[in-house]
Amino acid sequence: MIPNEEINLIRNKANIVDVISSYINLEPKGKNYFGVCPFHDDHNPSLSVSPEKQIYTCFVCGVSGNVFSFVKDYENITFPEAVKLVGIKIGHNVDYKISENKMNHEYYEIMNLANKYYLNNLKSKEGLFAKEYLNKRKIFDETINEFNIGVSFNDNNLSKLLINKKYTEKQIIEIGLANKSDNLYDVFRNRIMFPINNEKGDIVAFSGRIYNNEDTNKYINSKESIIFKKSNILYNYDKAKSEAKKSKEIFIVEGFLDVIRMYTIGVKNVVATMGTALTKEHALLLKKLNVKIILLMDNDEAGEKSTLSAGEELLKYDINVAVVRISGEKDPDDYIIKNGENKFKEVIKNPISFFDYKLLYFKKNKDLNKSKDLASYINAIIDELNNVNDDILKEVTINNLNKEFGVDKNLLYSKLIKKEVKLKEYKIVKKPLKLNKNKKISETLIYMMLKDVKYIRKYEKDLGYIPDKEYGQIANDILAFYKINKDFNIADFISFETNNEYYETVLRIINNYEYNEPIYDEFDDYILFIYKWIKEEQINTLLKELKTESDINKKQEINDLIIKLKRECENND
Ligand code: UTP
Ligand code: MN
Repeated sequence: MIPNEEINLIRNKANIVDVISSYINLEPKGKNYFGVCPFHDDHNPSLSVSPEKQIYTCFVCGVSGNVFSFVKDYENITFPEAVKLVGIKIGHNVDYKISENKMNHEYYEIMNLANKYYLNNLKSKEGLFAKEYLNKRKIFDETINEFNIGVSFNDNNLSKLLINKKYTEKQIIEIGLANKSDNLYDVFRNRIMFPINNEKGDIVAFSGRIYNNEDTNKYINSKESIIFKKSNILYNYDKAKSEAKKSKEIFIVEGFLDVIRMYTIGVKNVVATMGTALTKEHALLLKKLNVKIILLMDNDEAGEKSTLSAGEELLKYDINVAVVRISGEKDPDDYIIKNGENKFKEVIKNPISFFDYKLLYFKKNKDLNKSKDLASYINAIIDELNNVNDDILKEVTINNLNKEFGVDKNLLYSKLIKKEVKLKEYKIVKKPLKLNKNKKISETLIYMMLKDVKYIRKYEKDLGYIPDKEYGQIANDILAFYKINKDFNIADFISFETNNEYYETVLRIINNYEYNEPIYDEFDDYILFIYKWIKEEQINTLLKELKTESDINKKQEINDLIIKLKRECENND
């Protein structure tokens, strides 16, 4: 547990605009800052950040919160981890140990043990053959150690070792190192073993490559488990991220061996997917780095296709994408081996924009001297231009088409869809909640309390209670927070409520009213309304009592009370 005072201290020192800016671009507009919301699929600046209140809200998907909830959701970590991380950003060290749950902890232990075991194998006499294979591919000890490369043999010794260490068969199977028929047997056999790390550097999987020409899959990967999902792992991301932040760019390649080769020649800002297409999760992982992404796929048709699809996926998240294509050799690894590191470094120095890459791609297999091919080429470019928001790029492209092919500029412009039309297309993800009058008034009242301590005092003096479990508790939390801190602000209250079962409701109320300011003059009317609601609740309780009461005098008393309350209710109207 981190003490509340410390949480508030960090929250106070960390400016939410600076912290969020380190993840996404924010532009000032009026009192607030705006950026593309990272919590839903969007291109429009729907996320608003208030430096005054130190909160953010998105009017499309409805998220809101303070600096900690942003970091928590963006980094996919827990609340205390987010507090610790924001602390680091402002130079305040929080004494809090990040603890994985015990189950996962044991899986990481198993993976570490397995890795040690594979490493030892490679150092043993039986590992000589694998070592020779690696050396033949110009992978030497330094690289082997850097990437923790090992080897598996054709036996079940890893399973036996893990059982001896008291791990259960179930665990070893679940993590993908063994399977069972009659007996437990090792999954990875006779393969060069590459450990796969998660973002933090823990081993979550292995990929095994054949090295003795067997007629089988070149690579096999660990099956997915609770600690390994292919779609959100990028090979070498843990090591590449700091390098990428330094050089402001990161390369994406297709193969492990490409990553390893580039790393050994000093290009360390490089990652690879796990033999799958680039997913949304990958894009979000890369977006976090806030750097340019350079696609460097294999020199074949598949590489061309994955350049296009990866580029499109990244564009969805407003990521700056560029492309390098190599020629002559199949992949970066072969290219470096064949042409040397200097020539390779020259090539990767000159990426073209993803847009220009697409223009080149449209030209492919077309003879632009033929009218039909030329027309379809130009139409493809126009379609493409209709997807970009950059007016200058449109202008430049149209000028080029006019110069190169003599097509009339006005005709080209007339084919462009007006930008305003496109901008209106964003969809509201947030579903408006249908609330009954009691709930609506409770929420409005609560929002007013969040906005101004004056209403907290009024609530305490005139009401002090809302006859609904959820709203009653939130209102009383606001009051309690105010009494503890002798003051109130929304941003710290959000931290205060993090573990509350009604946390989401608090955030929803904040988000909703940020865009629909309530009428503050109506506060007293709302108090009266809730007062009446309380009486109605009392009447209901009394009616129930009346049914079970047998004493005639008592019945009369209850009846009188009900009549009195009913009259009061009517007077209130
Ligand atoms: P490549 O065949 O390009 O592999 O597959 P590579 O990394 O260049 O390896 P070498 O140079 O032949 O040794 C690219 C990626 O696709 C996945 C792996 O992640 C590999 O790095 N892959 C490939 C598989 O998962 N299974 C396979 O059978 C082949
Ligand atoms: Mn290769």
